[in-house]
Amino acid sequence: MITIKRPHEIEKMRRAGEAAAGILNELATMVAPGVTTGQIDHAASRLMSEAGVRSAFLGYRKYPGHICISINEEVVHGIGGPRRIAYGDVVKMDVGILRDGWIGDTATSVPVGIIEPEVERLLTVTEEILGGALEFARPGNRVGDISYFVESQAANHGYSVVREFVGHGVGRQLHEDPQVPNFGKRNSGPKLKAGMTIAIEPMINMGKSKVRILADKWTAVTADGLPSAHFEHTVLITDNTPEVLTWPRKTLLK
Ligand code: MF3
Ligand code: CO
Ligand code: CO
Repeated sequence: MITIKRPHEIEKMRRAGEAAAGILNELATMVAPGVTTGQIDHAASRLMSEAGVRSAFLGYRKYPGHICISINEEVVHGIGGPRRIAYGDVVKMDVGILRDGWIGDTATSVPVGIIEPEVERLLTVTEEILGGALEFARPGNRVGDISYFVESQAANHGYSVVREFVGHGVGRQLHEDPQVPNFGKRNSGPKLKAGMTIAIEPMINMGKSKVRILADKWTAVTADGLPSAHFEHTVLITDNTPEVLTWPRKTLLK
């Protein structure tokens, strides 16, 4: 069942989205050579407490981290720990928070210094694809229009999309209907309506699509070891322009 959010619920989703975006932005400024992923997770925990919000990931199906932090060939669901970030890495961070009963979910990919041009390109293209996909989040379109756009754009650049993980509806729960895959057919799937809130999150691999899960039972890595990029926004479908609820803003939290 796809829920339509009422105006006062949308107001809460805005505040949750703003908190998630603010925290992700703050964490992005901490990414530096020599910093451990555990230190970033710890900072995320502190920022969440300060903002009066909770991690939507911690404890979700027993996930042990406050955020997901994944490096290079790690696609998603990396767990903070002793690994030190190195110059030239790509650090993907995914922040999901619960504020006053409502979720905000957003992710970004941060280059550490100057990275290889092909990898820089992967990040730019993936972020552009998210930007383009957001434009499809309009009443009358179908979920498949978003899915098709992401998959076809990725293919146009010689990249592949991850099939094991998908975008999703978001609201009181982290993962609500509908699923929003990064692959699919135009004019297929549920119709989008004003008041729906969805997380669009292209996960795009430089090489082949296939992923495997590490022994920690969470971290997804590309099977071919090539880099992967991930960007995500929570977006509200309106009768006009889609409203990105996790856009980073200057005004913050509370
Ligand atoms: N990456 C997922 C999303 O953005 C959420 C991760 S769930 C966790 O929807 F348990 F792995 F944290
Ligand atoms: Co996320
Ligand atoms: Co998500």
